[in-house]
Amino acid sequence: MNNDIERVLYSQDDIKAACQRLGADITRDYAGKKPLFIGVLKGVIFFMTDLLRELDFLADIDFIDVSSYHGGTASTGEITLVHDIDTDISGRDVIIVEDILDTGRTLAYLRDRLSERKPKSLKVCTLLDKPEGRVVEAKADYVGFNVPNEFLVGYGLDYVEYYRNLPYVGVLKPEVYAN
Ligand code: XMP
Ligand code: MG
Repeated sequence: MNNDIERVLYSQDDIKAACQRLGADITRDYAGKKPLFIGVLKGVIFFMTDLLRELDFLADIDFIDVSSYHGGTASTGEITLVHDIDTDISGRDVIIVEDILDTGRTLAYLRDRLSERKPKSLKVCTLLDKPEGRVVEAKADYVGFNVPNEFLVGYGLDYVEYYRNLPYVGVLKPEVYAN
């Protein structure tokens, strides 16, 4: 385990099992459809690839990059669009894929933005949901794990852009971000 990590919340095996469960649920719910999966960069990269390989159909993929953090452990509240999708989503079944749902601001922003483009349906799949963090209303349709109100890193989640490539989700030692 990395020295800066206080404890591992979800191991590689836990995450794999969650991806299998969510992949099976989505495969069942979208039978006969051809949804577009929109991953929210950058935190989603590992979850996106692992989840989509658990689907039993061919998936369309795109990415959107929004930023809300600007480096720290608390969200600033202001969302900026860094990179838009290039797929036309009108009339499409769309699934937003997120690493973590916390304050809900990112998802609320994305829902507003994407709904304007008239998709046929718009659902959300998140690996992690932190319900206690919610500031605006936001709900995911598919959730891997409900997580406690702590700052998490690994498996895509970063602290000042580090720790993303840890293969598990863990809690950072408080002294790491106190410095
Ligand atoms: P909101 O607050 O908009 O958060 O629901 C969505 C985005 O904020 C980031 N986030 C975190 N990143 N550890 C992280 O590394 C966390 O505990 C955490 N909580 C929120 C993340 O990018 C997410 O997409
Ligand atoms: Mg994110």
